[in-house]
Amino acid sequence: MEQRTIRSFVRRNGRITDSQHRAIETLNQFILPIDKKLDLNTLFQRDAEKHLEIGFGMGDSLAEMAAKHPEHDYLGIEVYQAGVGHLLLQLEKLFLKNIRILSTDAVNVLKEQLEPQSIDVIYIFFPDPWHKKRHHKRRLIQTAFLDLLATVLKKDGKLYIATDWENYAEHILEVADQHPAFINQFGKGNFAPRNEERPLTKFEKRGQRLGHGVWDFAYQCVPNE
Ligand SMILES: C[S@@+](CC[C@H](N)C(=O)[O-])C[C@H]1O[C@@H](n2cnc3c(N)ncnc32)[C@H](O)[C@@H]1O
Repeated sequence: MEQRTIRSFVRRNGRITDSQHRAIETLNQFILPIDKKLDLNTLFQRDAEKHLEIGFGMGDSLAEMAAKHPEHDYLGIEVYQAGVGHLLLQLEKLFLKNIRILSTDAVNVLKEQLEPQSIDVIYIFFPDPWHKKRHHKRRLIQTAFLDLLATVLKKDGKLYIATDWENYAEHILEVADQHPAFINQFGKGNFAPRNEERPLTKFEKRGQRLGHGVWDFAYQCVPNE
């Protein structure tokens, strides 16, 4: 019997605005096919650093990073359609040319679409924490997922993660520190200081006002030769 895959997300199809819907219909040149291998330099028409954000939500961080670094190319993966539409509207408003979007499960993109060692930097900001213990298996950051990240990252590529949920932070530190392909940039057992590259979102500002913690992680990839 085929094993049912455990997903790290639930599909939220409601509450998409008319303008987000229009953006998905009309700005589809920024949306990549989800059934093909990706030749990133051909797609972006240049040989620049390739940065990948997994689960970009509404895309505010991705748009801000791409605007700040026109010299880099950015790929964003998100299943949430309102988020895809919102990011497309920002691309249009800010005239950003260095972002492409994949609207599907990141696991498929990592397994089927990206070439090995094709990505310089991966960001995963505030992955769904799945608070309940019986849902912990749905958490994105697990050893098998880190195996996939290690395959697509270039040698010495960087992985940056942030979470605002302490129990998830402890779990991330444990699995990533133990993973043979990743070196904790701040030494085993240590969180990273706040990543300067990570835009400060409304969500995080609110958390700061309420005194909530945020835990950052910085790893370097050392794939097998
Ligand atoms: C808690 S939100 C955080 C969004 C954003 N990074 C932020 O900081 O506001 C997590 C996002 O990850 C997306 N997500 C979860 N699992 C995913 C997967 N396997 N592939 C693509 N997106 C995923 C969800 O749809 C959701 O929008």
